[in-house]
Amino acid sequence: MAEASVAGGRARFGSTLRRDAWWVEILPVVILLGGFGIYATWRAFEGHFYEWGPYLSPFYSPLIDPAHHWWPLSPALLILGGPLGFRITCYYYRKAYYRSFFLDPPACAVGEGQSRSYRGETAFPFILQNVHRYFLYIAFVFLAFLWRDAIRAFFFHGHIGVGVGTIVLLVNVILLTFYTFSCHSLRHLAGGKLDCFSCVAFGRPRHTAWTWLSALNERHMLFAWASLISVGLADYYVRLVATGAIHDFRLL
Ligand code: FES
Repeated sequence: MAEASVAGGRARFGSTLRRDAWWVEILPVVILLGGFGIYATWRAFEGHFYEWGPYLSPFYSPLIDPAHHWWPLSPALLILGGPLGFRITCYYYRKAYYRSFFLDPPACAVGEGQSRSYRGETAFPFILQNVHRYFLYIAFVFLAFLWRDAIRAFFFHGHIGVGVGTIVLLVNVILLTFYTFSCHSLRHLAGGKLDCFSCVAFGRPRHTAWTWLSALNERHMLFAWASLISVGLADYYVRLVATGAIHDFRLL
């Protein structure tokens, strides 16, 4: 495997023996992650156009104090920390933004030019990334609310129906479910930390769960991007119909 060249005990920034275009991965991540961050921040602060008919934007779910009885700002700001914390501390996203935004390192086996005092995620502030497993529990709560919203999107004035928004919200929550269930921490909880399944209680069902979660986990990067895009598009769709820019098309 190619390794970064080392000068005086420290790899020079960008030095590598790799001959492939390792730098092409950086730009899409900056555009997608940066673009999503800007859009989501704007939408979270906007505080309007998050609901239409049976549709609720995923950025605002669960909807808390929409009438502003005790919270004067956008309702999205009350709940933002849960999904944001889950994404920011995700093992895959950490790799993606460490490389693309911090260039630390820019890519595998490429010199990052940092000092010997670098301690990665073993010291403050990055040691806080270890709270990811707790954000996983919070993510399940959000997922339950999003499934409730997707089911509600089938009911128009008391009648069952399907609009384009119904499909948009349903696809979004399915992708978010795949993203959550492919989480490295969940796989670890199910059995990744075990050396011997037959030596522990519920070893067989845990092994089955671990096998299924491992299959999902192999595609975690795919689900991370697909769900990020779908959650942004779902919010955008709800905003478009809420502002009247487009009409929701009823399929059934
Ligand atoms: S590792 Fe990505 S969500 Fe847990």
